[in-house]
Amino acid sequence: MSSVTGTYPTAVTDACRAPARLDPYLPLCFLGAGAMASALIQGLLAAKLARPGEVRVTNRSNSARLEDLARSYGVQAHPGKAEALRGARLVVLATKPADALACLEESRPHLEAARAEGGRPPLLVSLAAGLDTETLETLLPPGTPIVRAMPNTSCAVGESATVIAAGRSAGPPDLEAARRLFGAVGLVVELGEELLDAVTGLSGSGPAYVYLLLEALTEAGASLGMDRRLAYQLALQTLRGAAVTAELTGEEPAALRRKVTSPGGTTIAALEVLEKARFREGLSAAVRRAAERASELSRELRGKERR
Ligand SMILES: NC(=O)c1ccc[n+]([C@@H]2O[C@H](COP(=O)([O-])OP(=O)(O)OC[C@H]3O[C@@H](n4cnc5c(N)ncnc54)[C@H](OP(=O)(O)O)[C@@H]3O)[C@@H](O)[C@H]2O)c1
Repeated sequence: MSSVTGTYPTAVTDACRAPARLDPYLPLCFLGAGAMASALIQGLLAAKLARPGEVRVTNRSNSARLEDLARSYGVQAHPGKAEALRGARLVVLATKPADALACLEESRPHLEAARAEGGRPPLLVSLAAGLDTETLETLLPPGTPIVRAMPNTSCAVGESATVIAAGRSAGPPDLEAARRLFGAVGLVVELGEELLDAVTGLSGSGPAYVYLLLEALTEAGASLGMDRRLAYQLALQTLRGAAVTAELTGEEPAALRRKVTSPGGTTIAALEVLEKARFREGLSAAVRRAAERASELSRELRGKERR
């Protein structure tokens, strides 16, 4: 992907898209074998960050799923945590947040054992939304380096927008390892942990807002008599074209919008309707509500951990 000069940071995308091998954070182990784990496994193997034999994966009970991952990617699938975590240098917590506490409790002795072998506990990269590094620290061997990550569903096609945030014991090499891991499935940006709820509201939940836009544009085309499939294709390509234009030109979205809006024309007539319908305010309130919900869920998880 090339970048053109402009006010928006297209270069960040490029800088973060050049992963190298994950040494010395190998072998690595996924706790959880769901959608996120499989997207990351696919991305990291394609980017040659590790060989299949250096990647382990375990889950709670779904053995068919483990076999499927082993067959598809050649990774080592272990039903038991002891074997999966033996000697691991990087552990990706990829369970649902509600299952994370139990999973870490079951893993803790094996993480302690991994420390005995390697001196330092393995790096923990957590995908569990709402579980902050302070809470994670209480569940892990002392001194465990932790990096929290908030990717999105576009991981599955290598186009995630992921934010990573370091816990107290994570150093620059730990962050670099996380950057390489998520760089294999899209853009990576590092931020302070205090912004992760906002990130959840924007890019974590964001694909759903875009799908809603796609649905609404398709419906609008169909309601004007267009074949629904054609309306969908036109809407999809319009979203893609606008995103690529913004990325390649690096121009501010407002400037791009003004360029396609001539006085007395059709686009300005449409935009007036959207402004009247408070389109912007609606999106802003949606992002804000998702961020608030992330913080509510976070409080609920902290409450559970104390009980
Ligand atoms: N999907 C997204 O778009 C997205 C976006 C941002 C962040 N995330 C975060 O990524 C994490 C994973 O999401 P996902 O969509 O991949 O979830 P998922 O598809 O539901 O997979 C969850 C996995 O966790 C395993 N698991 C549950 N309890 C376990 C335990 N005690 N020990 C070991 N494994 C256990 C499950 O195993 P069984 O199948 O055997 O029960 C399953 O393999 C979540 O925390 C989510 O917040 C997801």
